[in-house]
Formats: sequence, C-alpha cells, structure tokens
Amino acid sequence: MSDPQKIIQELRERINYHNYRYYVLDDPEISDQDYDRIFRELENLEKKYPHLITPDSPTQRVGAPPLESFKTVTHNLPMLSLGNAFTEEEIIEFDRRLKRFLKDETDITYVAEPKLDGLAVELVYVDGIFYVGSTRGDGMTGEDVTQNLKTIKSIPLKLITKKIKKIPPRFEIRGEVYIGIKSFHELNRHQDEKDEPRFANPRNAAAGSLRQLDSSITAKRPLDIFCYGVGLVRGYSFNSQEELLKTLPHWGFKVNPHLQVCKNINDVMKYYHHIEKIREELDYEIDGIVIKVNEFALQERLGTISRSPRWALAYKFPPRQATTKVIDIRLQVGRTGAITPVAVMEPVSIAGVTVSRATLHNQDEIDKKDIRIGDTVLIQRAGDVIPEVVSVVKEKRPEKTVPFKIPSSCPVCGSKVVREEDEAVYRCLNLSCPAQLKKTIKHFASKRAMDIDGLGDKLVDKFVDEGIIGNVTDLYSLKANDLVPLERMGEKLALNIINAIEGSKERDLDRFLYALGIRHVGEHLAMILAEHYPNLEDLMDAQEDDLIQVNEIGPEVARSIVRFFSQRGNRDLIQRLKNMGIKLSAKRKKNGGTLQGKTIVFTGTLTQFTRSEAEKLAESLGAQISSSVSKKTDLVVVGSDPGSKYEKAKNLGISIIAEDAFKKIVES
Ligand code: IVH
Repeated sequence: MSDPQKIIQELRERINYHNYRYYVLDDPEISDQDYDRIFRELENLEKKYPHLITPDSPTQRVGAPPLESFKTVTHNLPMLSLGNAFTEEEIIEFDRRLKRFLKDETDITYVAEPKLDGLAVELVYVDGIFYVGSTRGDGMTGEDVTQNLKTIKSIPLKLITKKIKKIPPRFEIRGEVYIGIKSFHELNRHQDEKDEPRFANPRNAAAGSLRQLDSSITAKRPLDIFCYGVGLVRGYSFNSQEELLKTLPHWGFKVNPHLQVCKNINDVMKYYHHIEKIREELDYEIDGIVIKVNEFALQERLGTISRSPRWALAYKFPPRQATTKVIDIRLQVGRTGAITPVAVMEPVSIAGVTVSRATLHNQDEIDKKDIRIGDTVLIQRAGDVIPEVVSVVKEKRPEKTVPFKIPSSCPVCGSKVVREEDEAVYRCLNLSCPAQLKKTIKHFASKRAMDIDGLGDKLVDKFVDEGIIGNVTDLYSLKANDLVPLERMGEKLALNIINAIEGSKERDLDRFLYALGIRHVGEHLAMILAEHYPNLEDLMDAQEDDLIQVNEIGPEVARSIVRFFSQRGNRDLIQRLKNMGIKLSAKRKKNGGTLQGKTIVFTGTLTQFTRSEAEKLAESLGAQISSSVSKKTDLVVVGSDPGSKYEKAKNLGISIIAEDAFKKIVES
C-alpha cells in the first residue's frame, strides 16, 4: 500500500482507537512507546503531505494559534438547569408529582447518575466529525471553545463506527468537563513550581483551563469529560436515557460508570445512599446525584417549567460542614516564600474524615471573617480540598480575644516579610530561608538557569536533607569527598557534579539573574536587565524610577527587583557568590544564534511581542526576516487571525509555529 492518503487514514484510525482504549476505557492495548511510534509516523507523513491534514486528525488536537476572543454559539436546544432537592421527602414528592401529572400510578423507571461538579459543554458532530464545541453560557448561548475541547483526549475527534456503523448526520452531545482530584493536586504542585497562583478547587481549575484563549495552555491541563445527554439529534433516535448512555461509549464517548437504572423511587433512594458512601473513593468531585425519567417519550410529555425539565432533579448531598474551636493560628511558609495562616482546630469529623486544620488563606480573609484564636467556627470541606472556615460563631466567642495579625517577620528564618501592593499574600523574600531552600537551589541549578548538569531535583533534596548544603553558596565550596559517602554516589559521579558546579561559574549574567528567582523576572526580562545593567552592582543599586525607564520593565517588576536587592540576606549571598568566583558581569555574544541563516516570516497578530520586537529578536539570533512566504522560507511564526501567508506556508509544507513556540526559541 503506497497511497499516502490511505496510509494516513489507517494510521489515524489506529491512533483514534488506541486513544479511546487509553483515555475512555482506561484499558490500553499497546505500550506508550508503540503509541508514540505510530503517532510520530503520522506526524511525519503529514509533514510530508501537508495538504492531507484534516481538522479531525489526532495531530490537530494542539497547535491552533491563540484567539483574540471567543465567538459565541447559540445552542439549538437550550441547555437547561436542574431543580434541587436535599431531603428524602422532596424526592418522594417529586415522584408523586410526576405520577399526578401523568395521571398514572405505575412506577416510573429512572436513570440515576452522579452529579458531577465541573462545567457543562455541548459538542456538535457533523457526519461523525467533531465540528464545534461550546460552554453552557446562559443556557441559550455559550462560548465557542472548540480548540480547547479538541485538546481533551477523551473527546473523540471522529466517532468510532466499529460496533455501531450508523451514526447521526448531526449529533449534539452534552457532558461535564472536569479535572480529577489527583490531577488537580498535581496541577497545583506545578503551579507552585512555576510560582503561579494555586487553583482553589478542581471546578475552578477546569473552568479556567477551558476558557483559555491559547489552546496550547489548555492542552497542558488535565481536563476530562463525562457525557450524559444530548441536544439536537438528526437521523437517529433513542428511546431512553438508558439506551443513549449505553450507545455513547461505542461511538467513543466517556460515560460515568456509576449510572444506574432504577425501577422506582425507592431504588433511587438506595442509589443515593450507595453513591454517598463511595463518594470519597471517587477521583472526581460530585455534589449529589441526578435523577432522570428514563423513557424519552415520557420526558417529552412532562416537558419543562421555566428553565428546568420537569422530568429530572438533582438530589444534593448535605454540605460537608461542622463546627469546632480554633486552638491556634500557625504560619506556614511555602516553597515560594508565601506565608499562609493555618487554623489548628479541635479535631472534628466531617462526612467521615477527621479534620483538625483549615487554611485561612491570607490576612484579608482573616480580617473579613474576623477569625481569632479561641473562636468557634463553622468549617466546610469541598471534596478532597483542604477545609476552610466559612464563618465565626460570634455568640460563642470567649472574652479577651484579639484580632489576629500576621507578624512582620518570617516564622522560619526571621527575616522581614513583605506584602506586594496588589497581592493578598505576605512573602518571605530570603533566598536562604530553610522553607524555600530546596526550591531555590533546584531553580538555581536548572538547565535554563545556571545549568549545573547532574544536579537534579532528587540530588538537591538529598543534599539539603543530609545537611550537606544550607544555601546556594555552599554548592561552590563542595568537594568530591563530601559527596562520595552519599548513597548511590560513586567517585566518578561526584567528580562530574563538582566539575559541573565549577563550570557554572562562567554563565552569562542573564542566566545568573534568572537563577536568582526574583519574582516576575523570567528568562526574557533577565536578558533585558543584563543588557541594560552589564554590571550586577548597578542593578543592585537601581531604584524603581531607574528601572521603569528600561523597555518592558513595568512598575510591578521594578518594585519586585528593588525589594529583592534590599534584602540584606540576598545581598550577602550575592557577595559570597562573587567571592567564590562567579562571574557577575555581561558581554553577550550576539552571533551564531539558534536561528542563524534561517529565513523567517511572521503573520497574524502577536500578543506577547510587537511585530518589530519579534523581528529584532529573531535577527539577534541570526535570522533573516522576510515579508512573504516562498519555498525559501524556513519558518513561519503565526499569531492570531493569520492571513494568506499561513495558508501558503501550509500548502508549501513549511514549518509553522505559534507565538509561544517562538518565544521559547527566543528564550532558550
Ligand atoms: S443533565 C436538563 N446530568 O448540572 C438536564 N447534568 O444543574 C441537565 N450536571 O448544567 C443536565 N452532572 O453542568 C446532567 N449527570 C448529569 C450531571 C449534570 C452534572 C450539571 C450540568 C448542568 C447542571 C444542572
């Protein structure tokens, strides 16, 4: 078989199938390596025959240029909301109401499903191909988040027709996009590492991720979906919710495994208690169950009232709350220096889990709720997330309590803590603060900073845990003999590490600046600063007014830099590093850059650079800029709304990258 179109088609089908085994059924048939191999094969062929790329190809899940804003989508059938019930009586009344309405006392069959705590979306398939996807919005119109939904691997880009060959020519399917609890914690760990704010809960994380204008960011978020309903369906009919939910997986959709058909309302009740029991074991958050009349014909007879169907109801779990007493308020210093007040409380059980600590977030939260040591408080647990204080029971406040204020020095190292003007958190800025030490050193040694080869995260943990280093400077006085006694450390490895540390003394100033981990100073700004202040001492003495004169440095960054260098501990550290022989001045070589000899064309609107900045940067790396695409073009960088140059580049099979990828090249 040598017809590339046929081979490409076959590869896509294999990938779609294995994707489905992995992401929907959670039951892969082949190894990750084999999957990667097939995927690369497809990528290579598509690169060779770009005219054969179609939007439903598995390679097209990522890579669309960022958008300026979302378009709106009007739902063909409104996306309704659900009435709520909290008690058994309300559920029994619901069932009676329906029987009265139907003028029939026969038991109604229901389908009961977990009520997922994410956000509702609609996916439209035309002739089996994923065409457009949108958020619920106000129920009538939502936002077009097609590109973002395409990055979710459990959403089929093309329906699978292995088992059920017939597919509806138009199929609107609805479901809940969510982030699992484990993935949520992992995501927050990544946020910490990048010094970016944590997400409050999985729902917020999912909503924020789905509403990114740049789908390459969404692609990095662990979004998932459960499908549970339909909108408009043409050319196919289902008789019941049960039939629908049993058909969906055959076409490649993920359906929640805990759904149940209930013969009567009594079975629904049993189901509710069952789900309440297993709730803690689920890896995603639910806040109750949804009850739906099974027969579609009956649903139709029942119809809707205002914005909710008469045939469905959410039966919510009671809120996971309890009252207890605050014994103490302690301060935790995070790895980024952020200081978080935590309430230590008399242990109390909430829905089977004993709780004795709750985050108080920050001073503003404490002030707003006026939480004091000795107070009795109402606390609440949302899913697996750390509990929080909802309110203070003021009547129970003992006499002589005082408002709580976060002290002005770090509880771990004693240095002064600061609060950025536009931030709620207090931070300890001392690089050598033991609470931040590991993170500081890992960042310092990392590839894009001082690039100390071999000194990875695990080794840093070990060095700090074993007391071999107590700050960044200690690295430079290490001898191979200090390392050899460590587990799994031979002489050769120890020597290599010492040599790598020694070699890092020669890094350029911009890398050193980046390595210091000054808040808001990433690689790009470090480069600009190093160019402007080739002598570190000048930068250390610069005032905010001087700094904001520098292109791209705004007041927030300027403030952060001045704050950093005003810390006595940080100045001492830099002095010691200098004494150790680290080069602290710059002369950047401009030539022989990564883009040497390449011809680059820019098209579309860039968001992170102006066009002329981008061109200058590319030139500084050795590239030649051209205004039109031809066979001689090596690379096309696309922003949003790219024009005909983008089409032409695709047709000619020229490498195309988004602005983010360009930024990465520039920064590397
Ligand atoms: S059915 C009319 N099924 O709950 C039917 N909704 O309050 C409404 N939800 O916007 C949708 N799990 O975001 C349905 N198994 C489930 C659900 C579910 C969560 C959400 C959905 C909807 C909201 C309605």
